[in-house]
Amino acid sequence: MTWWQQPFLRACRRRYGDCFTVHLSGLGTLVYVTDPAELRTVFTGDATTLHAGEANAPLGPILGDSSLLLLDESEHLTRRKQLTPPFHGDAVRSQTEIMAEVAAADVARWPVGRASAVLPRMRAITLEVILQTVIGVRDEDRLAQLRRALPPLVEIDGMQLLGLLVPRLRRFWPWTRFSRTREVADALLLDEITHARTDPRLDERTDVLAMLVRSESMSDSQLRDQLITLLVAGHETTATGLAWTVERLVRHPDVLARARAAADEGDDAYLDALVQESLRIRPVVPDVARKLTRALDVAGYRLAAGTIVAPGIALVQRDERHYADPASLRPERFLDGRTAPYTWLPFGGGVRRCLGATFASVEMRVVLREVLRRVELEPTGDRPERARVRHVTLVPHRGGRATVCSRRAVGVESTR
Ligand code: HEM
Repeated sequence: MTWWQQPFLRACRRRYGDCFTVHLSGLGTLVYVTDPAELRTVFTGDATTLHAGEANAPLGPILGDSSLLLLDESEHLTRRKQLTPPFHGDAVRSQTEIMAEVAAADVARWPVGRASAVLPRMRAITLEVILQTVIGVRDEDRLAQLRRALPPLVEIDGMQLLGLLVPRLRRFWPWTRFSRTREVADALLLDEITHARTDPRLDERTDVLAMLVRSESMSDSQLRDQLITLLVAGHETTATGLAWTVERLVRHPDVLARARAAADEGDDAYLDALVQESLRIRPVVPDVARKLTRALDVAGYRLAAGTIVAPGIALVQRDERHYADPASLRPERFLDGRTAPYTWLPFGGGVRRCLGATFASVEMRVVLREVLRRVELEPTGDRPERARVRHVTLVPHRGGRATVCSRRAVGVESTR
């Protein structure tokens, strides 16, 4: 839904109030909801009435039929229950050392003295983190093969999207290339699954795949589908969140200085607040969707079956009724107290809330800490980067350009 740019949607909200309708030819009727009480109704409503999986159906050829993202109702709940344990706090905390190592190694290669986009670097970091902590690959040769094979499958460009939306195109070049890409990626992933099933050290492994194999709840092809799903859902999103954070930091020298001190002192609370504030002010996913399978009352209106209800995440997070001075970057607001319910929703909500929310928040904190401890970022007076639509996300249109003015001497290793 993101191709409806935020300024247009903000204008609609000002003009029509907290609930308004947008008619999109080919997609149907979208009803935006931005009042916290109504957002609660939508996010906690009956999962048999509010479908999220249906809207993701075009991604089937990439994700596979048993992907969590494609399922609804009881099938979704069963699969979600199987996938949840590796994403609990303790399991995620056991991955922070790898996250820090991966970030430190990448930051060591960042150019000094000239401006460059951080988004490609953040993509490389988040891909590597998923390969090592989700799929559990530590062998350098296999890592190299997966680094080559997976991005072409999951970094969906406009051409690939067209092939997904119009299935008959897939018989022709260049869409035939996609089948080959998928075969190569699948063979490598199935190899990792077999390797995990026969690994004599499986019990010691902390990665997501190892935990899922130990639970004996899924077949090889079901595991394959979830691994690709986690990659698609978790790689670009987290990289984009990190790129926006750097884009905001270099334009707020006071926050940058405080964040650098927090990174040096191991003050996780401030870095966590920075991550929360960054995801508030620049949500990576600005809205989500639920398709109604039957009529539902929302915000005083009777909405017909087939309507798409869109919780307006970006709209509610930039609303001055919920956040004082909403356009300014102030991590302190998340230190001083809790936000009101249903006003901070970068990970969506209800039974479809992002499975990797804790994972992403911890990863963003750990990566930012390594960046801030290792390089001096130059504040810039440049105008803010505009948001550019990329599939369902909003990315900084110049990739979050920043200049590293020098490397810093890294002191005693902080606790992770
Ligand atoms: C900053 C980074 C991230 C953002 C902003 C983000 C945001 C979201 C949003 C908005 C949704 C849809 C929620 C809804 O419909 O209510 C979602 C779903 C999901 N996310 Fe994330 N995500 C991030 C990172 C991750 C990571 C790191 C992973 C896993 C490694 C992940 C896995 C998933 C999965 C599996 C779903 C589908 C959940 C379901 O349908 O039950 N995400 N995410």
